[in-house]
Amino acid sequence: MANPRKFFVGGNWKMNGDKASIDGILQCLNDGDLSANTEVVVSPPAIYLGYVKQNAKNNISVAAQNCYKVPKGAFTGEISPAMLKDVGIEWVILGHSERRHVFGETDDLIAQKVAHALSVGIKVIACIGEKLEEREAGHTEEVVFRQTKAIADAITDWTNVVVAYEPVWAIGTGKTATPQQAQDVHDSLRKWMSENISPAVATSTRIIYGGSVNAGNCRELAGQADVDGFLVGGASLKPEFVQIINARR
Ligand code: PGA
Repeated sequence: MANPRKFFVGGNWKMNGDKASIDGILQCLNDGDLSANTEVVVSPPAIYLGYVKQNAKNNISVAAQNCYKVPKGAFTGEISPAMLKDVGIEWVILGHSERRHVFGETDDLIAQKVAHALSVGIKVIACIGEKLEEREAGHTEEVVFRQTKAIADAITDWTNVVVAYEPVWAIGTGKTATPQQAQDVHDSLRKWMSENISPAVATSTRIIYGGSVNAGNCRELAGQADVDGFLVGGASLKPEFVQIINARR
């Protein structure tokens, strides 16, 4: 049976880039031969969202890296999904491990952000993933199921949600999960979704992998049955991002 899920590749630029380097990345993407079978989303720092939106071709969508849980108010430094929508941004990454572990975001706060973003019509890349000590203690499934449940409890319609499995030990470390390790967790997550949400949601929702994905390892990872794409950090700032977008071509 053909895979019902469109391949999805997101580029998470994190707190990197300036206008000059963004011009270079966009030129590479705008001129690149990008597979029409891949949904492509890039996520610049908030201050460059409008610039990237204006300068990226329309086969490339743009995501914020974070947003807050209410539409407006006295929340210095925050931006809301309504504001993203206002400037034409379609996506937001929520629950990234750096938000969880550097900025202390809890499952509960992330769930509230997910619910609010979806209610405004912003699509969500919801991130989950275990830390090294959790994997070594044999708690991978317990952690990712707990994180997924918190998010799932806040979602009524999964149409606009992509789940990103990003083991914390693989992010920015050069240590990629093996294709089998990624497949095993994605398979368990899909089974969990089937049992705890619905079989239809489990079949249609993209579960993408993140953590040191590059041009060299993307094809084998993309060949796994339950790996529906990638969330790419470091390599999304380089020309090899085009090869990652085309990993399933
Ligand atoms: P990395 O980051 O590709 O640099 O490991 C992935 C991510 O944090 O989304």
